[in-house]
Order: sequence, then structure tokens, then C-alpha cells
Amino acid sequence: MSSRLEKARMYEAEQEKEIAKGERPAFHLSSRVGWMNDPNGFSKYQGEYHMFYQYHPYTTVWGPMHWGHAVSKDLLRWEYLPAALAPDTEADEKGCFSGSAIKLEDGRQLLMYTGVSEQKEKDGTTWDAQMQCMAVGDGRNYEKYAHNPVLTGKDLPEGFSVRDFRDPKLWQEADGSYRCVVACRAEDQSGAILLFESRDGFHWSFVSVLDRSRNEYGRMWECPDFFLLDGKAVLIVNPQEMMAKGEFHNGNNTMCIIGHIDELTNTLVRESVQALDFGIDFYATQTFCDSDGRRIMGAWMQNWDTGAYRMPDCKWYGQMILPRELHIENGRIVQKPVAELETLHGERVCYSNLDMSGVQKLDGISGRYLDMTIVLKEYTKGSVLRINLAQNAEHCTAFEVDTGRGILRTDRTHSGSRVDVLHERSCRLLAEPGKEIRLRVIMDLYSIEVFVNDGAQTMTTCIYTPAAADGISFETTGHIVADMEKYELNI
Ligand code: FRU
Repeated sequence: MSSRLEKARMYEAEQEKEIAKGERPAFHLSSRVGWMNDPNGFSKYQGEYHMFYQYHPYTTVWGPMHWGHAVSKDLLRWEYLPAALAPDTEADEKGCFSGSAIKLEDGRQLLMYTGVSEQKEKDGTTWDAQMQCMAVGDGRNYEKYAHNPVLTGKDLPEGFSVRDFRDPKLWQEADGSYRCVVACRAEDQSGAILLFESRDGFHWSFVSVLDRSRNEYGRMWECPDFFLLDGKAVLIVNPQEMMAKGEFHNGNNTMCIIGHIDELTNTLVRESVQALDFGIDFYATQTFCDSDGRRIMGAWMQNWDTGAYRMPDCKWYGQMILPRELHIENGRIVQKPVAELETLHGERVCYSNLDMSGVQKLDGISGRYLDMTIVLKEYTKGSVLRINLAQNAEHCTAFEVDTGRGILRTDRTHSGSRVDVLHERSCRLLAEPGKEIRLRVIMDLYSIEVFVNDGAQTMTTCIYTPAAADGISFETTGHIVADMEKYELNI
């Protein structure tokens, strides 16, 4: 083991003792110590779910990237393992950036990631190059491939460069061969997704430009993912520097392209484009196909631009979303929290046909660890339901359904923030006017994920509010009749 990896492993094992269990989210993976961003190598291997992550153990800000590592039997309770990768070879001396994992035919676990290395020009100036690297392991320890990097500038088509060439996502084809998609910046300065193939998982060659932004959807695209789902080809990318348009907000977004493959050119023919999440803290998605066929997605429950809202004096930073199962319904992607969540269901409180007028608080409806569904069954046009969560005298995070304007809004202005970053976001409800509106609210200590109409839309937001702020209240304008079902989550 290299000294850099050994140092990271010793540091994290020592420092994690300083973090009490109750200071972490209960069923969302958080950084073992220090900084976490993208999920990497999210997969199932030898009966365990593996989640690696972009990791800087030494501080709670981004730094030379390592790969943190955790495993789980149920996608809810995670056990930390020693860091898997450190920037310790010539090919990745400046960082082990994002990548993915699969099982090789011989049973070993194969990691593919972006190695960042410094390049020197003749005049002495330096710049960082991004090239793809491999490592092989047994689910605990990994050895880097001696011939890294395996994809370099020589493998790129004209107009592309290794200045922005990252985040390989690999998979195995039915014939046993391997493929991967990698994000790259094209000469027009915007992102493109390159497809590569390999017989053995180590020797790769370029196939095609699967799809590209052409400056239509943001600049660089990051963390690509490509898979077949419910008879369609799906490409998920994370565009940077977007200007708000349609469903997309400014800055970093997550975008899902549904289409089909043109077999002659190996390119994606787009049928629809949609945003994946409408909340504040969501970025850097990655999926895998579970042994039972489910397509499961993870993501970083943060966003680069809003990360200044954080807990002071905390020894960890960064959480992952609750993994979601994906499907396509009516031409759009839908996301459902993994069914495993139901194994945490504890005490159930239920109300039906509630006339919400005048209802402020309800017996049994409170808490910070819960799975709660609210169904607006009948409502007069223009009526508004505001749900105040994580509430005490000082704090509150609200979700508001405005049936007149047809929007859902989140507002965490009063969730303890002392910085002037985004605290409100709204989205157009895709529901048909007048039809039932279902909101499923999943709350952990430091986050709220809302699934609208069985996952047709989601809104994900972090709240770094004290655990004692556990009240829930309602404010209704107009006439609304609702059903409510709340489960406490037992962790
Ligand atoms: C996305 C990203 C990736 C990169 C990693 C670096 O959030 O910028 O493109 O591999 O983070 O930590």
C-alpha cells in the first residue's frame, strides 16, 4: 500500500471517532470524515452494495481527490471501509476523479476512474490533464493497473482534449465485452459524451460521440451514465454552467435524455429531454443495475453553487441521496425511493378526508426521521397548502403547493443559514389541473426529499437545522381535502 493511502486510512479511522452517530444523517450516506462529492463505483459486488465517493478526508473542503468507500446490505445502513484509492501514482498524482465499478469475468472488482496529472509545457507552464485509469480489487483493497492511463489524448477524436476528459461509466455487454461513456469538452467548449469499447476491460478504443451539448444545454457535461430502461435508451448527464431554460435552473443541473440508438452510427437519437430533480441540492448522478433488474440511482445531495450553506464546526461534509429506482412512464423518467425504505417503517399515523381549513397541527404528525405521504384529494382552484417541516420557534423549511399557479415551491430561508445563497426554488407541477396531487416526503436528520405524484417529479434539499426542530404544521388558503399517512423511521 502506498504511504498516501496508508496515511488517509489511518487519518479517517482516527478522526471518525470524533463524530457521534447522532451527528450524522441516519440512512443517507455521509462522508466518513472531511469532504465528499460524487458517488463513484455505485454497484453490487459479492452480495454487497458498494458506494465509493469523491473524498478529501483531511478537510471539509474539496482537495486532492481520494476514493472513500462504504458498503451496505440494504442501501440504508452503510458501513465505512478504508479509503479505496489515493492520488499516489504518476497517472493520478493530482487526484483520482470520478468513475465506476463492475465485476470482471474472473470475479475481481474493476474500477475505472479519471487520473489527474500535471503536464509541463516547454516554456515551463503547467496544466492538469485528465485521463482514464483502472484499478482491480477484492471489494476491500485495490491495486492500480500498471499501464495506466488506459485512455489518453491519442484515443480522442479531433477537436477533443484531455483538459476536460473525465468520469468514465462502464458496463458489460451481453457478449462479454465492455463499454464505457466518458465526458469530454469539445472544440465549441461545450460537453460531449464519448463511447469506447474493450474486449478485456483494460484495452479501450473509441467508438463514437454518443451525444453532445453544442452549447444548447450548458457547457461541460459531467458524470455521464448510459443504459437501457423500459425499452428506451437513457443518457443522464450533469451539465455545468447552464442558463435557466424550460425545466432547468441556472448553474449545474442533472439532465436525462430519453431516446433510441442509431445502430449504424452508435449515436443517441433524442426523443425527450428533462430535468431530473427540482430541488436545491442534487448533482452528480450514477446508476447501476441491481441483481433483481432494478435500475438504481445515487447522487450527491449537494450542488457546487449552493454548498456554502453548511453546518459550522462539523467534521464531515457531503451526503448522498436515498437511492432511487428508475422507470420510464409516459415518456418521462420517474424516480421512487428504493423499496428497502419500508423496512424502516415504524409507528404509523393516518388521517383521511381531512378538511385542511383551520388545521395547523395534527396529533402524531411531527419528527425528523419520517416517510409521510400527503394526498390533496379535492381542492378549489387557487388553493394553497404550505407544509412547514423541521420547525421550532426559530427554524422551519416549507414546501408549498400552489394549485392556482400550478407550482411546487421549497423555502428553507429559516433553516439556520447565515449565508446568502439560494434558499428557495419552485417548479411547475406536471400534474393535470384539478387532479389529485400526491407528495411523499422523506426526511432524515439533514435532508428532505419530496416525490411528487409517485416520482414524476422530485425536489431534494438539505437542511442543516438542529434536530430539536422537529415540528410539522400546515397553512391552507382556500378549500383542500387531504389524506395523510406518516411512518416514523426506525433506525
Ligand atoms: C462532478 C466532478 C467530476 C469530477 C469530480 C471531481 O461533481 O466535477 O466531473 O470527476 O467532480 O471531484
